[in-house]
Amino acid sequence: MGLRKDFMWGGAVAAHQIEGGWNEGGKGISIADVMTAGDNVTKTPRRITDGVIPGENYPNHEASDFYHHYKEDIALLAEMGFKCFRTSIAWTRIFPKCDEAEPNEEGLKFYDELFDECHKYGIEPIVTLSHFEMPYYMAKHYGGFRNRACIDFFVKFATVCFERYKDKVKYWMTFNEINNQADPNPHHLVQEGAILAEEGEDLEQVMYQSAHYELVASALAVKAGHAINPDFMIGCMIAMCPIYPYSCKPVDVLAAEKFMQGKYFFTDVHVKGKYPNWVMRKFERKGYNLDITEEDLAILAEGTVDYIAFSYYMSYAVEAKETNPHYDYTEYDYVRNHFLKASDWGWQIDATGLRYAMNWFADRFDVPLMIVENGFGAYDKVEDDGTVNDDYRVEYLGNHIKSMIECVEEDGIDLLGYTMWAPIDIVSASTGEMDKRYGFVYVDKNNAGEGTLARSKKKSFYWYKEVIATNGECLK
Ligand code: BG6
Repeated sequence: MGLRKDFMWGGAVAAHQIEGGWNEGGKGISIADVMTAGDNVTKTPRRITDGVIPGENYPNHEASDFYHHYKEDIALLAEMGFKCFRTSIAWTRIFPKCDEAEPNEEGLKFYDELFDECHKYGIEPIVTLSHFEMPYYMAKHYGGFRNRACIDFFVKFATVCFERYKDKVKYWMTFNEINNQADPNPHHLVQEGAILAEEGEDLEQVMYQSAHYELVASALAVKAGHAINPDFMIGCMIAMCPIYPYSCKPVDVLAAEKFMQGKYFFTDVHVKGKYPNWVMRKFERKGYNLDITEEDLAILAEGTVDYIAFSYYMSYAVEAKETNPHYDYTEYDYVRNHFLKASDWGWQIDATGLRYAMNWFADRFDVPLMIVENGFGAYDKVEDDGTVNDDYRVEYLGNHIKSMIECVEEDGIDLLGYTMWAPIDIVSASTGEMDKRYGFVYVDKNNAGEGTLARSKKKSFYWYKEVIATNGECLK
């Protein structure tokens, strides 16, 4: 019973959201570097600009300045007893444009030093290769992953990282939340690597084509990684938000199931090495003539992953529509689940949904799971004495961790670890805000980019330290 003795407790971030140093050390511009700051209060969305425009506020340019603070930050994680730390390697530190013949040594050296710093404290680095930070040049010049040429750029980047860090990193992930693009909205398409569709194009078709190239790139990377070090554990990374039927009407149940298929078929391809039948039928029905070759299908079958990493923040609900006879998931709108409360950003809080999601994965896929993101974005108040009493964060994380432990103890699910999002305050991916805070460590910086960047410990810092020290037992 209980979590395994070597359970990997830790936290997760992504390079573009924490590092800053956007134009230091030979780094190129990434797509995150051309995204402006949004604001939840005024409901201002992030904008994607045509290159870096002087005078615009680009929050990822400095972010939490981890590039210069990483030693202090890793020491804080070590103080909490972290066993692991998930981050990404900024592609543009290694290949600033994407198609260079040789990697940028200064970028490679930065991650050598970062991983060494982790190991100094016995913290295992866990690495995502592509986390919403594709080279901007690749997007502009090649059209991003809608272009087959980008498969080779990714595989080369992955291979350079595998070779360089083969003795420092064991756990890898290829594409962060690859299935976000299943909601084919422009923001997700840009983040996942398919640059904006042209006027008049079918967004969904663009999404399936670029997702296919990403899946092939991922499978080739898995094969290359295993050849370099057979002990590597290389996973996929799925954004898991379970979708519930709005009622027990059979059509609502079927609508939810079809929606789950639409969002999570990426997992089938990554783990089983093939597309489910409904996907091919859908391409025929929609008249999509995609570039999917026999050779690609063989690569997908050979490059299957070792584990499923996933993020979990919330759940959704959906109601059937008479106007959607094919139960096409892209034609549904989510409906509010009145049984759940939501965060200030409207994310529905549902700890039970984590157990549902883990059972859903475990019933379908015979590989271990790893929770690599779970957290509560909230406005924090700094008291006059400098403390942050973030009981709401402790409540959210505590309830989700309890649900996770039930999955292991009662459902027998093979779970490798839990890396909450994000132990240090960082820039929000969806809104570009600093004030959407997830951390145990407060970073003195606001949405306008003002602040000293000083780090301080929130109340939750001490709580998580206890959770790790007792291997979760203190929550029982
Ligand atoms: C996940 C992403 O979608 O959710 C992270 O992998 C992101 O990059 C996290 O930061 C939380 O989302 P947000 O928009 O609150 O930062």
